[in-house]
Amino acid sequence: MTTKTPERVARLAGATDFRRVVYSEEELQRRVGEMGAEISDHYPNDEPILVLGLLKGSFIFLADLVRTIQRPLQVDFLVASSYGTGMVSSGKVQLLYDPDTSIEGRHVVLVEDIVDSGNTLQRILPVLEERGPASLEVCALLHKRLVKLDPEPRWVGFNAPSEFLVGYGLDHAEDFRHLPFIGSL
Ligand code: IMP
Ligand code: MG
Repeated sequence: MTTKTPERVARLAGATDFRRVVYSEEELQRRVGEMGAEISDHYPNDEPILVLGLLKGSFIFLADLVRTIQRPLQVDFLVASSYGTGMVSSGKVQLLYDPDTSIEGRHVVLVEDIVDSGNTLQRILPVLEERGPASLEVCALLHKRLVKLDPEPRWVGFNAPSEFLVGYGLDHAEDFRHLPFIGSL
């Protein structure tokens, strides 16, 4: 039987220029569980939260995260795009899908896969803030710490290296989102 090393899994997914595993499946599960516990404890009593995922990159992270949050919650998604197919942020952020879900008076947790230039958050947060949420916090799995944001995400999974990362929802030109770990190209 062939062992399923991450390198082999990456190769089977088509990543011929795969460099290294940056966060293993186990590390991701452990850290996501910690973040879920922190979010569970952060809000008063039984007030529900609205977990708002930024698609597409956050879909796997969000799916794992909400299953570790022990309080009432609802889930919805936003689609923003800034990258096109390249590896460098284009700086332009478009809202391609905006949910009908009302945000007013609700505790909103915006879930982002990775903060790179910070453009996406800096563009989206004021739009959501304008809708009068009871509170608005960001939970980002990864943060490259290339920029200082105001405000910074309340929850960050890992400070990520300045490499191009794929897997666990992160793509390169739509490929490799399904890798169960995060690796660099
Ligand atoms: P920002 O607007 O520059 O902060 O970039 C945010 C978005 O760019 C993220 O939600 C990702 O979809 C994408 N992105 C940034 N860095 C990477 C990376 O290393 N790999 C894959 N996607 C990335
Ligand atoms: Mg992307």
